[in-house]
Amino acid sequence: MDLFDRIKEILKEINDFEVVDSTSLEQFRIKFVGSKNTIKDIFGEIKNVENARKKEFGQEVNALKGAAEEKFSKYQAKMEDQVDTSKYADLDLTAPAGDLQLGSRHPISIVMNRMIDIFAKIGFVVEEEREIEDDWHNFTAMNTPEDHPARDMQDTFYLQNSTVDLLRTHTSSVQSRVMTKTKPPIKIIAPGRVYRNETISARSHCQFHQVEGLYIDKKVNFADMKQTLLYFAREMYGVGTEIRLRPSYFPFTEPSAEMDVWLGTDTESNARLTKGTGWLEVLGCGMVDPKVLDNCGIDSNEYTGYAFGIGIERSAMQMYNITDIRLLFENDVRFLRQFSSLI
Ligand code: DAH
Repeated sequence: MDLFDRIKEILKEINDFEVVDSTSLEQFRIKFVGSKNTIKDIFGEIKNVENARKKEFGQEVNALKGAAEEKFSKYQAKMEDQVDTSKYADLDLTAPAGDLQLGSRHPISIVMNRMIDIFAKIGFVVEEEREIEDDWHNFTAMNTPEDHPARDMQDTFYLQNSTVDLLRTHTSSVQSRVMTKTKPPIKIIAPGRVYRNETISARSHCQFHQVEGLYIDKKVNFADMKQTLLYFAREMYGVGTEIRLRPSYFPFTEPSAEMDVWLGTDTESNARLTKGTGWLEVLGCGMVDPKVLDNCGIDSNEYTGYAFGIGIERSAMQMYNITDIRLLFENDVRFLRQFSSLI
């Protein structure tokens, strides 16, 4: 038979092929669209077509291919739209809907987000950094060189086979990361998880969270820091909240202080959390030690700054009356579900 007649015949076959269900659609696919289809066979015959008609032949075969593909996609879409309704025969559309299980935010996230919002209002930008740190950014740059006794305060986990890679012991490592890559003014907060080699108990854990703050510019002073922290305490713990700064020691700040907020001892939980003093220790802070600025390539004759590190767990425990820190890391849904009304 003439090849051109054969093309016409196949086109007729395509048009007449009755697709009624998925089985016949599959038969159609195998015959006209699949990898070994009839149209391909006929295309292979092009070598037997006289040169003058090769172009015409090619166009007709392509049209044939197009017709087959078009019919296949049309029926395929149709089949997808067709749903077997028999299995829904017993469905009662008037029945009340089942419970919608909503997740809830973790109390740590709730408190952390609140802190971020408070500082964002006065221009602090969020910086996030790695949890696996190196010795330099976590300790040395922060003025805690090897053999410095202050390293004892923060024993950590080292990565296997390494004496330099460790899990960061504080978010202060973000300070050195940011200061080495950015020029002042720097005004950041860095929320995140930190690790220490601590015995796990109701009060302490080997993982916890901090929000670090750092402000570096020309002429930043201690009064700026105190005012910022007072603003924070009042936004976080209530309008009339009182704070006190106690002298302290951190290798990376000079002078250094710890900030307490006044909770009183009226309730049993406040008395417990403040160990009977009424004061809750909330954060460590101070003026960034000039050595830290120099270590990170910032001229300490030109710039000054303050920094602070807030512990999150203690605030979360105070706010939600949580008596055991371990509850925050066990991910027991019966515990977590209780926070579903909070955002
Ligand atoms: N990194 C300290 C800690 O984990 C907390 C801290 C104290 C951070 C003073 C600071 C600071 O930025 O200025 O105990």
